[in-house]
This record gives sequence, C-alpha cells and structure tokens, in this order.
Amino acid sequence: MRTLVLLSSVAILSTLAVKCKYDGKDLENNEVITVQNAFRIKCLTEDNGSWKTEIIGCVTPDGTEINAGEKKEVGDKVHECVKSESGQVSLKESKGRTAACPGGQKHGEQWQEKSFKFRCGDGGVVKFEACVGQDGSVIPAGETGKIGGFDVKCEQHANGTITMQAANDPKSYDCTAKDGSSKKNGEEYVEGNFVRKCGDYGQGKIIGCHAENVGNTIGINQNVTSGDIVYSCTKDGSNYSFKTYSLKAN
Ligand SMILES: *[C@@H]1O[C@H](CO)[C@@H](O)[C@H](O)[C@H]1NC(C)=O
Ligand SMILES: *[C@@H]1O[C@H](CO)[C@@H](O)[C@H](O)[C@H]1NC(C)=O
Ligand SMILES: *[C@@H]1O[C@H](CO)[C@@H](O)[C@H](O)[C@H]1NC(C)=O
Ligand SMILES: *[C@@H]1O[C@H](CO)[C@@H](O)[C@H](O)[C@H]1NC(C)=O
Repeated sequence: MRTLVLLSSVAILSTLAVKCKYDGKDLENNEVITVQNAFRIKCLTEDNGSWKTEIIGCVTPDGTEINAGEKKEVGDKVHECVKSESGQVSLKESKGRTAACPGGQKHGEQWQEKSFKFRCGDGGVVKFEACVGQDGSVIPAGETGKIGGFDVKCEQHANGTITMQAANDPKSYDCTAKDGSSKKNGEEYVEGNFVRKCGDYGQGKIIGCHAENVGNTIGINQNVTSGDIVYSCTKDGSNYSFKTYSLKAN
C-alpha cells in the first residue's frame, strides 16, 4: 500500500495568471500531474490569487487511473484508491475475484487431492467442496452420505482440518451371516466350514475352520486329528481353505 499526504493550500496574491506550485514546478489551473508514479494531483486556482493542489486519484502500476474513493478490477487484481478524512490518499491492492489460487489453479477450476475435492473460488480462495469415496461416490462438504453401505461424514472443522470418517461407531454395525442372521461386533459364528468373528463396520473375519467332529475351532494353519482324519485349516495369501486327509492306508 502506498500513501501520499498533501496539505499544501497556499494563498498568494498576484496580478499575473495564478499558477500552482508543486515540487518546484508551476502548474496551470486544472492541470493534472502524476507524482510518485501512483497519485494524480490537480491544480485549482482562484481569480483572487489563491491556489491549491488536490489529490484527485491514483494510478496503478500498469497505468490505470482510479478516482479517489473508487476501486477498479484490473486483471486478477483489485486496486482501490482510498481517501481518508484527513486528506490522506492510499493505493491499496488486493486479489480480484478471478485471481488464481495459491496452488496455481485458475478461478473456478476444480481438482482432487487424495479423497478431497476443491475449487478455486473468488479472490483466489480455495474452497473445500466434497469428499470422494474409493468407489467414486461423492459426499458434499458438511454432509453425511453412504460409501460402500456405510454412513460417512465429510467435514471441514473450525481449525481447517478436513475429515471423511465413519458417522457411527465402527463397532455399531452388525454382520450378516450367509444364512441371513445378524451378528453383533465381537460375536463368533460358523459359516460352512469356516468360523468368523464379527469385526468393525460389520465385516465378518475368518478366524478358523469348523468341522462337525471337532469340538473347538480349528485355528488357521493348524491341523487337528480326530480319529483317522486330519482336518487342515490353511490361509494362503488372502485365500482360506479347509481340507480333510484320511490317515487310513489305501
Ligand atoms: C479566494 O476565493 C476562494 C473561493 O471563493 C476562497 O475560499 C479563498 O478564501 C479566497 N482567498 C483569499 C485570499 O481571498
Ligand atoms: C481439528 O479439529 C478436529 C475436530 O475438532 C480435531 O479432531 C483435530 O485433531 C484438529 N486438528 C488440529 C491439527 O488441531
Ligand atoms: C497339515 O497336514 C497336511 C497334510 O498332511 C500337510 O501338508 C501340512 O503341512 C500340515 N500343516 C501343518 C501346519 O502342520
Ligand atoms: C486365491 O484364489 C483366487 C481365486 O480362486 C486365485 O486366483 C488366487 O491365485 C488365489 N491366491 C493364492 C495366493 O493362492
């Protein structure tokens, strides 16, 4: 911000044509000059011999003239020529409506970072718009939506932090067994030859295998022999398998 104070109002009595003086120069009545590359000064004379110079406006670095008390948008900047009661005039610069955002995005441009969508708003201000789930579903900022069947809240907190998180306690979700029955978090249940435990977000995790002839759960990567049969529960990568082997010689 640049500021200029001009308080020169001198009265001289002269019989000659009255002129203003500014910085050692003579100015004609109504003549306007630019000083400090930023302010426009006008000479005003009276027939009685008095004269004064007045700041009538500002000039932006690119040469745009702005009257005192007005503002103009030039490119992506707003220039304001402010005049105070005391006669002080300042040229203020701020970002215009169509200014780019700090990351270089254009006004109105939308982009995504990780799971969050943003838009470059007025004045180069980044606006948080929405959260995006892994399945592509979009939840507008401040709202709760469903991603993969779960209630997810998309929020911008007062401290600026943005979160996309479960709207409910992860343990509040029930699991649905293959037979259609509901299981509570932490509950164990048999599904075919596997034993599952109901985990967070209603995800039933395999914790072992089940065989009619074996009372307890057969742990993963464990062999249990009952009679002349070996019950084998294995995990290979993300695959689980249950096999039985006969110990009887053929
Ligand atoms: C000259 O005229 C102006 C405007 O009428 C007035 O404000 C100013 O006081 C006068 N000056 C003198 C020295 O008479
Ligand atoms: C911001 O606020 C949220 C919600 O109140 C809180 O969970 C988070 O830890 C805060 N982050 C920082 C950096 O203060
Ligand atoms: C279980 O038994 C099978 C068949 O005999 C064998 O291949 C496997 O290595 C055994 N696994 C364990 C963990 O002992
Ligand atoms: C798991 O099973 C799938 C489908 O049957 C198969 O394509 C994949 O190779 C298996 N992975 C392992 C590690 O055995």
